[in-house]
This record gives sequence, C-alpha cells and structure tokens, in this order.
Amino acid sequence: MSKKAYITTAIPYVNGVPHIGHALDYTLADIWARYQKQNGREVRFQTGVDEHGNKIAAKAAENGLDPQSYVDKMHVNFQALITSLNVESTDFIRTTDPHHKGAVQYIWQKLAEAGLIYKGSYEGWYCTGCENFVTDKEAAENNGICPDHQKPYERLSEENYYFKASHFSEQIREAIETNKLRIVPEFRKNEFLELIKDGIKDVSVSRPRKNLSWGVSVPGDESQVMYVWLDALSNYITVLGYPDRPEEWQEYWPADVQVVGKDILRFHAGIWPAMLMGLGISLPKVLLVHGFVTVGGAKMSKSLGNGVGPMEVINAYGTDAFRYYFSRHVPTQEDGDFTWEKFENSYNNELGNDLGNLVQRVASMIQRYQAGVIGDAPQAEHDMGPYREAMAEFEFNKALDITWNTVRALNQYLENVKPWMIAKQLGKDPDAESHLAEVLAHSASTLSQIADFLTPFMPSTAEKIHQIFDTGVVPSTIEPLFPKIYLHTQDPRAPKAE
Ligand code: MSP
Repeated sequence: MSKKAYITTAIPYVNGVPHIGHALDYTLADIWARYQKQNGREVRFQTGVDEHGNKIAAKAAENGLDPQSYVDKMHVNFQALITSLNVESTDFIRTTDPHHKGAVQYIWQKLAEAGLIYKGSYEGWYCTGCENFVTDKEAAENNGICPDHQKPYERLSEENYYFKASHFSEQIREAIETNKLRIVPEFRKNEFLELIKDGIKDVSVSRPRKNLSWGVSVPGDESQVMYVWLDALSNYITVLGYPDRPEEWQEYWPADVQVVGKDILRFHAGIWPAMLMGLGISLPKVLLVHGFVTVGGAKMSKSLGNGVGPMEVINAYGTDAFRYYFSRHVPTQEDGDFTWEKFENSYNNELGNDLGNLVQRVASMIQRYQAGVIGDAPQAEHDMGPYREAMAEFEFNKALDITWNTVRALNQYLENVKPWMIAKQLGKDPDAESHLAEVLAHSASTLSQIADFLTPFMPSTAEKIHQIFDTGVVPSTIEPLFPKIYLHTQDPRAPKAE
C-alpha cells in the first residue's frame, strides 16, 4: 500500500448554509483520513464548494448580490464548519478559483480534441435543484416533479454541446463490475449497474449563456457556458494541480476514496469515470456512498422547517459528540435518523455514563488507592482484528460498536472484580496491594487502547484519555469528559412534580 493517500468529499452548493448532510460528508472523510494517519500514511484531503450554476445565481439575485459577491460571502460558512468539526482537510477548493476555471477549460479542450464533444440540441427536462437533465421516462415516472426538490421539472429546448460518455459505457461497466472502481456498499453498486443496463447516455455539457450565465465559458464559443457538473467533478484533480503541476497531481491521483451521498452517485460513477477515461487518467479506487440523514423520520426540507444546523448541535454538545452520533447512529452506508432526544440520550448514556464515568472512575481509584501512580501490569491486549476489518470495509458504525463492547466489558469487569472491595483489604491481606494494582493497571491500559480506537472518531476525547493514562501518573483533577446535558430530555435528577 502506498504511503500517500488521497480522499475527497463532494463539494456542496453554496446556495444556503451548511446542513447536516454536508457535515456527514466531511466527518466520514475525516474519520478515514485520521485512521490512515494513525497507521502511518500521509493523507491529502480535499474539501471545497461548488459555486457555479443557476441555482446559485438565483439565490444571489434574491439576496440583492452579484453571484461572485454572494459566493465570496457564503463559502466561509463551509470553511467554518470544517474547522468546527475538527476536520483535518488539506485543501479547500472553490470552483470560482482562477486556476480551477482555467483547468476546466483545458479539460474541455482535451475532450474535444479526442472527438468526445459534439454540438447538438437538447429537448427535454431539467431539474435546477439537482442541476440534472432528466429523461422523459424519469420525468413521467415522477409525474413531472423532482422527488428530491418537490419542484416541477423545467422544459428545455436549446442548443448545446454533448459529451460522448456512451463511448465508455462498456469500459465503465467492466471497471465497476470487477471493482477496479469499487462502489461501496455493494447494493449501491448493483443499483448503479441496473441504472446503466442499457448503456451510459451522452450528456449535455453546456447551456446557452442566455439560459445559464454563471459558470465557466466554453473555450472557443462564448455563447455557451459549461454544465456545472463537468466543472464541479473536475475539482478532484484540479485541486491537486491538474494539468499544470503533473508531479503533484500524479503523486496523489488516483484517489483512494471519494465520499459521496447516494443522490450523486450517478454523476460520480457515470460522467466522472467517462471524463477521466477521455483524459487518459486512472479511475478512483473507491466510491464510498453514504445514505441520507432524516430528521424524525422525515426528509430535511426548508418547507418542513425541520432542518438541523450542525453548528446548533456542536455548540450545545461539542464536536466529538457530534462526530460520535453521526458516525455510530447513522450507519456509514445507509440512511440514518436524527432527533434531539435520540442525540441527547446517546450523549448522556453512551458518552456520559458508559465512557465518561468509566474514565472518571478508573482515574479516581488510581488517585485514591495509589496516589495517582499506575503500576506495572501486562498491557491489555485486545483483538484489534474485528475493529480493523470494520474500518477497512468502511463500516465505521461497526468499528464504534466494537469499541463500545470494550467500554462495556471494562465496566462489567470493574463491577465483577470490585476494586473498592479489594482496597478494603489493604493492610489486612498481603496480596491485596498487588491485586489492586493489577486490576487498575489493566483498566488503565484498556482505556488507553479504547482511546486508540476512538482516535479517528473523537480525536480530542482520545487525546484526553491518553493524557490521563499514558504518562504513568494520573493527573490530580480530571474534568468530566461529557457533563450531563438535559435540553431535550427529562433530567432524572430533577425533583419530581407532586
Ligand atoms: N454540488 C454537488 C456536488 C458536486 S461534487 C463534485 C451537490 N451539492 S449538495 O450540496 O447538494 O450536496 C453535497 C453533499 O451533501 C452530497 O454528498 C449529498 O449527498 C450530501 N447530502 C445532501 N443532503 C443530505 C442529507 N439529508 N443527508 C446526508 N447527506 C446529504 O450535490
């Protein structure tokens, strides 16, 4: 395995403030990146924003701004979220960056020179929400309304350029079937193969400027502007310095993992590989497809007013609690649900009781009985296999389940062994001292291993646990890791109403 690794996230549209879906993309990618770093790899980690297209131009106009001023203002919200999530990305690309725009024009020219771009006309449907051309069949199946955006499709009839993606149909199918381009999970791979069973269709890759003004101009034809997806997908290589810094981009490409939501798999498994093949560039190794987060079982939507801002959650419970919930209770490869109650219960019970109290308990016993000194004892040796396997299979929620089995087993062990009872025998039973030291050293070393497991998921918590148990002497005061919070659930300590 190469020492260098490259992971990417989808670049969100900046026509609103970041939501939980965006945070999920960043968090999953960061978990993978941190795990690789823990294992000695050097990780390049792209994030960024998608700033072109009608959807953004319309929002800018609504806000009385020109599109550039609007995106200049909006993109910082995404950078702020990345920082608040403690995501260690190395790059943040904006599709309005001059380098990116020039590189996209170069990509267009290369595809055109290879005979893969031709002029045509498009007569059909379009969803601005998805920035997607929709076939008559799909429009009819959905009764003319986009199920994701609940808006009627627009009817388009216009001149544009097409990209001959169909030329690569067979090669793409083969790459996916043989896992040269691995789609995780398997059921998403099968869904996509079913979608392309009649072949991949050519895609319209430009629109007349009068219908799409906010985007990159088609080289040699000022009357046409590039389709946002051609522009956006290119970011994964332009951010590395394609085409003008070959040494740099070739050092990291092909990407080891590209994290995308289920709604945009079709672009990443269809047009994107076709573009790369047209440019003679290798395909990414893995597309990790995550599901959608619902809120109380319903799709998040502005009209339902049930959107939850990631910052609201982080400000109330902290970054690690956010990362924990969305990597354990939203299964990595499936849909998951958020409610404030579920979140708070998991925070108080799993983080507060199971883990936080355990750390506190072990540390204070070492304080009380051994003046803070962790004695020597054989290191706890847990089987890392199942955890590693879950991480390798991108089942991050399972890796956390396994971690929690260790947390609960240690709680159970303490309940069974009762070190506080052994302490009562100190000075009476000659073996009590060494027995107690052994129990506590074993507990400290297990917690240290738990911290290793938690490092990719809850980096600050893992570091705190390491600081407590890894120096040989437990600090005299330890702040609770997860103080109880009752904003949405009943505080069991509160006096009961008569
Ligand atoms: N701009 C495109 C992506 C271009 S990538 C070259 C786009 N943007 S988006 O803002 O609509 O979505 C960004 C990411 O957020 C996608 O991975 C998408 O799947 C994810 N999510 C959007 N809503 C979501 C949920 N409700 N839940 C989980 N993730 C979801 O598509």
